[in-house]
Amino acid sequence: MTHLRPVVSFAAIDDRGARSVALFAEAGRVIQHPRCMNCHPRGDRPTQTDAMRPHMPAVARGVDGGGAATLRCTTCHHAANFASSGVPGNAGWKLAPAEMAWQDRSLGEICRQILDPARAHLDRAALLHHMAEDDLVGWAWHPGGARQPAPGTQEEFGALIKAWLETGARCPA
Ligand code: HEC
Ligand code: HEC
Repeated sequence: MTHLRPVVSFAAIDDRGARSVALFAEAGRVIQHPRCMNCHPRGDRPTQTDAMRPHMPAVARGVDGGGAATLRCTTCHHAANFASSGVPGNAGWKLAPAEMAWQDRSLGEICRQILDPARAHLDRAALLHHMAEDDLVGWAWHPGGARQPAPGTQEEFGALIKAWLETGARCPA
């Protein structure tokens, strides 16, 4: 498994703003990982695999991100990964809303977007909770099948996000 740099290793960066940017860049190794990006597409269709190819079969987000009325995500994605078929699963399986699209955006753009109160519906406390503890986000470290998990652990990732917020939540350019 690949590791994330621990928060203490950023202490050598004296400038608080520069430290904040560096912490987010490290967290970005998770945020921009295919396990996360596949559910945060630009359009209405999820992507699949490390190559982030369009989801097969073609599925659409529908009104609630859970799929069209005729083909719900939960038809195939169940409450947990299904080992024999390799279909990933989680009780909350659905597509991130269009205003939370990350694909084709730079890490700096994603950073400003998740902090933008006009677009995001999570305040900073909720954002930290979501990243550090949400079970659907946590799936990315236990993706089942032959999929590569996101780097590090959700706990390490949460610690980076917490330290990033505490250092002023500065974004890469
Ligand atoms: C007809 C069955 C079916 C439906 C409906 C379906 N999926 Fe999938 N989905 C799959 C299968 C099978 C895979 C695994 C493909 C693989 O790993 O090669 C998959 C994989 C994925 C992945 C990729 C995980 C990864 O990181 O590689 C995402 C994301 C995903 N589905 C999201 C959704 C969403 C969101 C919906 C509803 C809008 C949905 N799926 C509806 C069958 C389905
Ligand atoms: C199976 C699909 C799926 C996967 C995989 C996924 N997300 Fe999401 N994500 C969502 C959904 C759905 C929402 C909307 C949650 C809400 O409205 O409360 C969301 C919202 C978010 C938000 C809030 C964004 C904002 O602008 O407010 C963050 C942050 C986030 N996800 C982080 C992650 C990270 C980090 C990963 C990978 C470790 C990840 N997600 C993987 C479906 C997914």
